[in-house]
Amino acid sequence: MSWRGRDVVSIRDFTRRDLEELFDKTRQMEAHARGRLDLLKGKILAVAFFEPSTRTRLSFETAMKRLGGDVIGFSSAEGTSVEKGETLADTIRMLDSYADAIVIRHRAEGAAKFAAEVAEAPVINAGDGAFNHPTQAMLDLYTIWRIKGRVDGLRVGIMGDLKYARTVNSLLEGLALFDVDVYLISPEFLRPRQETLDYIESRGLKYKLLAKVEEILPDLDVLYVVRIQKERFLDPLEYERVKGSYKVTAHMLKGAKEDLIVLHPLPRVDELDPSVDKTRHAAYFKQAAYGVPLRMALLSLILS
Ligand code: CP
Repeated sequence: MSWRGRDVVSIRDFTRRDLEELFDKTRQMEAHARGRLDLLKGKILAVAFFEPSTRTRLSFETAMKRLGGDVIGFSSAEGTSVEKGETLADTIRMLDSYADAIVIRHRAEGAAKFAAEVAEAPVINAGDGAFNHPTQAMLDLYTIWRIKGRVDGLRVGIMGDLKYARTVNSLLEGLALFDVDVYLISPEFLRPRQETLDYIESRGLKYKLLAKVEEILPDLDVLYVVRIQKERFLDPLEYERVKGSYKVTAHMLKGAKEDLIVLHPLPRVDELDPSVDKTRHAAYFKQAAYGVPLRMALLSLILS
C-alpha cells in the first residue's frame, strides 16, 4: 500500500515492507536533517498537542520546516477554544480546513483514530493515552536497524512500566513484524496489558516475562528502558508502591555485551542513571536525534 495520504494511527496498520521503505527514506533524509529541502514547500502541518511533549512535537515541527513546509498549532489546550467547551471533533474539523496533515497527541485512548475518521487530511498519532505512539516505535525500530544493521535475530529486553507506556505497546507491535526474542522485564504490577500480549502472540512474537534484568542482561543486544508513567496511574497509592522499583546504572552494565545498546524514548526520571550516558551502550540521545530524519521521511512519504 502506498504511503501517500495515509493516516498513521497504529503500527498495526503497517507491514514490514512499509517500515523498510521508511527506513531507507530516513537514511536518505539523514543527509538533510541539518539542511533544507523544498519537497513540501507550500504545505502546512497542524500540530495539536493536548498533552506535554518536547521531542515528538519539536521533531515534527523541525522536520516540516527542513522540508520547506510551514507549521501551525498548539502545545496545550490552554489558549484554544477547547477552554470554551469546543469538542475534539470540531477542533479537528477546523485544523482539517487549514492544514494538509494533522499531528495529534491526546490523553484519551482512541483520540487519533477518532480524529482520522473526522478529518479528510492524513492524521498522525503522536500518542493517545497509554495506547499507541506509532511514530516513536518507527523511530525505535529505525534506531535498532541503523545501529545494529538489522532487527532480525536480536535479543531485545524491554524494561520498566510495560503497562502504561504507550511506546512499549507500539514497539511490541512493531517488533512482531521481525524475527526477534523479546524479554519483558518489570515488577508484576507493571506487566504489559493482556490485549498487547494477545496481539503479539497472535503474530508469533517470542517473548518471556521476567522480574529482574540481571536474569538476561549478559545475553541482550538491545535494552529499552521506560519510565514509570506517573500521569497514567488512577490511584496515587499504586504509584507510590512501584516508584523507584527499577533503575539502570553504568555499574549494572559491566556484565553486558560490548555492543549492547541502551535505548529510552525519553523523558527519563530516575530509572536511567546519568552514569550510563558516558558508557558505550548509551544510544538514547542518538535515538532522539534520529526523530528529525525519520519524521522528515514520514512527512515526505505521506505528503509529497
Ligand atoms: N518520546 C516522546 O514521546 O517524548 P516527548 O513526550 O518529549 O514527545
